[in-house]
Amino acid sequence: MTTTGSPRIPTASAARALRDAMTDQLLTDGKITSPRVEYAFRTVPREQFVPAGTALEAAYDAYQAVVTKTGENGAAISSVSAPFIQARMIEQAALQPGMRVLEVGSGGYNAALLAEVVGPEGRVVTIDIDAEVADRAGTLLDATGYGGRVTVTLADAEQGAPEFAPFDAVIVTVGAWDIAPAWREQLTDDGRLVVPLRMNGITRVIAFRREAGHLVSTSAEVAGFVAMQGAGARHESALPLTDAQGRRVELRFDEGAPENPHQLDGVLATEPAEVRSGVTIDRGVSFADLHLWFACFLTGFCWITAEKDVLALGTGRWFPFGAVRDDSLAYLTVRPAAGVTGSEFGARAYGCHAEAAAAAMVEQIRAWDRQARRGPAPTFAFWPTGSDELDLPDGVVVMEKIHGLVAISWPAAEKRST
Ligand SMILES: C[S@@+](CC[C@H](N)C(=O)[O-])C[C@H]1O[C@@H](n2cnc3c(N)ncnc32)[C@H](O)[C@@H]1O
Repeated sequence: MTTTGSPRIPTASAARALRDAMTDQLLTDGKITSPRVEYAFRTVPREQFVPAGTALEAAYDAYQAVVTKTGENGAAISSVSAPFIQARMIEQAALQPGMRVLEVGSGGYNAALLAEVVGPEGRVVTIDIDAEVADRAGTLLDATGYGGRVTVTLADAEQGAPEFAPFDAVIVTVGAWDIAPAWREQLTDDGRLVVPLRMNGITRVIAFRREAGHLVSTSAEVAGFVAMQGAGARHESALPLTDAQGRRVELRFDEGAPENPHQLDGVLATEPAEVRSGVTIDRGVSFADLHLWFACFLTGFCWITAEKDVLALGTGRWFPFGAVRDDSLAYLTVRPAAGVTGSEFGARAYGCHAEAAAAAMVEQIRAWDRQARRGPAPTFAFWPTGSDELDLPDGVVVMEKIHGLVAISWPAAEKRST
């Protein structure tokens, strides 16, 4: 494992100018929506929390995280998260001066932002499972003058910080697959839990409030986070494939991995089939909800990493979302659309039943387009294990977790199902 060292001290005026420019951008883009959060972003010196040698421009890139520690396989295990999602999560938490906040996953910078938002009467506690990360965060918070306003503790997210509870907000800054009971139990009655929650491989940063015995979402954002370690770690299963030239493709499954790992042997050496959907998308428009729709409704859903060019398409592009259907694999594509601006979604598939696998994916692209695309965004609820009265509307998608179940509602889809 490698950890980067202490930050350098850059020219204060250059850092200030970039800090203001980043904050202006976050305001323009609608990521910051309240004066207190704006003030925090204009005040906390982000460059002091990133590793030595990080370019100031990278430290102040509104959409980029800065990795601070990597694991043995080279994957990031700790980072200073991207400013845009830090801003959104603090806004989602609806913090007010004087509130008490628990941050799960430390780095120092976000805790300093939180300290500015809750002010001197508030309290920030941040916990991390990694002693090196917690020590680094504590040192940097002391060096930047926030040491007296933030308590850094070494702890596993699963336990929270009972000695400092209750909290008006629990903000989890590491990717979670489940909702630890401690996060709910340590919240005040009207507190907010903000958590990047993985649902069949797709993550939404969801703000929850309590309602009777369960949690209901108040907002959701699209972002990725480093994976949870410790008691709440939940690993995906990986299915490696090779094409005819021996190049690698890996399929990853959160739920529903094929029971027989050999059922796809040799699949990439078969002749691909392609099915178009007639559904188009304009350049630059997000279709993140299609991924979540797949995670909810597409049997065999997986996501894909591939060596360059293995899944390349002449004039089109492919996206790392796929589905395994029996002995065949389909994945999402877009190609220039005939006669209209934008691109057309489609599916490309390999295997003996390639045509059927591609058609099944296209059926879900069309269903999303018809039922959900123009409707209200999906909403989420979490029902803890042991909840006695589950009140789930028709059409809700349920994903079982260890500590309860997540219910995903697609409002337009529900209306159509009644
Ligand atoms: C994205 S970083 C946190 C970023 C930080 N909030 C910031 O200032 O931007 C995620 C952190 O979560 C920590 N982490 C992972 N699993 C954890 C667990 N079970 N309990 C507590 N911390 C954990 C990692 O060590 C890592 O430092």
